[in-house]
Amino acid sequence: NKPTLDQCYNLLDFEAVAKRVMKKTAWAYYSSGADDEITLRDNHSAFHRIWFRPRVLVDVEKIDMSTTMLGTKTSIPFYVTATALGKLGHPEGEVILTKGAAKHNVIQMIPTLASCSFDEIVDAKAGDQVQWLQLYVNKNREITKRIVQHAEKRGCKALFITVDAPQLGRREKDMRSKFDDNGSNVQSTSGESMDRSQGAARAISSFIDPSLSWKDIPWFQSITKMKIVLKGVQRVEDVVRACEAGVDGVVLSNHGGRQLDTAPSGIEILAATMPILRQRGLDKKLEIFVDGGIRRASDIVKALCLGAKGVGIGRPFLYAMSSYGLPGVERAMQLLRDEMEMNMRLIGAPTVADLDESMVDTRAVALH
Ligand code: FNR
Repeated sequence: NKPTLDQCYNLLDFEAVAKRVMKKTAWAYYSSGADDEITLRDNHSAFHRIWFRPRVLVDVEKIDMSTTMLGTKTSIPFYVTATALGKLGHPEGEVILTKGAAKHNVIQMIPTLASCSFDEIVDAKAGDQVQWLQLYVNKNREITKRIVQHAEKRGCKALFITVDAPQLGRREKDMRSKFDDNGSNVQSTSGESMDRSQGAARAISSFIDPSLSWKDIPWFQSITKMKIVLKGVQRVEDVVRACEAGVDGVVLSNHGGRQLDTAPSGIEILAATMPILRQRGLDKKLEIFVDGGIRRASDIVKALCLGAKGVGIGRPFLYAMSSYGLPGVERAMQLLRDEMEMNMRLIGAPTVADLDESMVDTRAVALH
């Protein structure tokens, strides 16, 4: 009695199906947030505090939702963000996301802690499909350097350094479910044995360097020509600092509510950040991305109106993949495209460049 794929009408439908059909351990790992999951819940609700201010009588016969992110053209302003352990949800793991992204000309961020090997994921890409690398920085910088330079050699266009996880958050749902290491080869990346008593997340993360700091950024800039983006920035002061450090972008993100509970949502940080960047003439200095809780194209539109270059989407593609494999991921992306086209038409913006801050009412947004 699993719904057929064409009975899934939006991304939240995939979540409902996944909850029913996924293995308990996998569901626990994918769905969990930190502590009381307040941030997890608010990531999506925060979008509900933003209202549209649509423009009418604009010629919206033709809609062009293509854009560029970090210098590469893409068909729609979202990317598949990095989520670890794809094989918990589907035996083929992350390559399913690669193939789905290829079909829709969407960018994929490859996680350090993928279940498939990095090379398998790169080998699965189609033609000039664009991939980025998400990096957890190893205490052993030689390992990190090797990973980064290998990714560059294999054609990755950008390096997203995760900065919100010096220690993995407590995801209690995940800790309660017994992690059985199904289909995961992450030991090869971390090079260390795993303590499984703390759930999947903690078992795989002990190699991450908690001493990483702003002082390390020039080193990354010296070892790669890839664009460098800091993933997990959570306050405007750090966005300004990232500008000063000369990085190419930031992702305003709280790691899908999996790290510091009651950290603010990316969309609210964006709303607080852009006016300050504009005031200081820094808004064109780097590209701003947002992730967390994006489930509708209207969420994407809101982020773009507020000044984001693009958004990352995590769990919905995992749920689509786990429930229906590749056709699920393809349909999830198609649903987003259809919603995006309709939203842009109804808000009166025929191109991404037409989306601006006058089209959203953010008075109910908390400015953290
Ligand atoms: C993540 N995320 C994540 N981020 C990262 O930098 N490295 C990682 O290995 C992972 N792994 C991971 C696993 C799972 C199961 C989830 C759900 C998330 C965080 C991810 O990149 C992104 O910030 C959030 O998932 C965005 O929120 P939504 O779209 O899942 O609500």
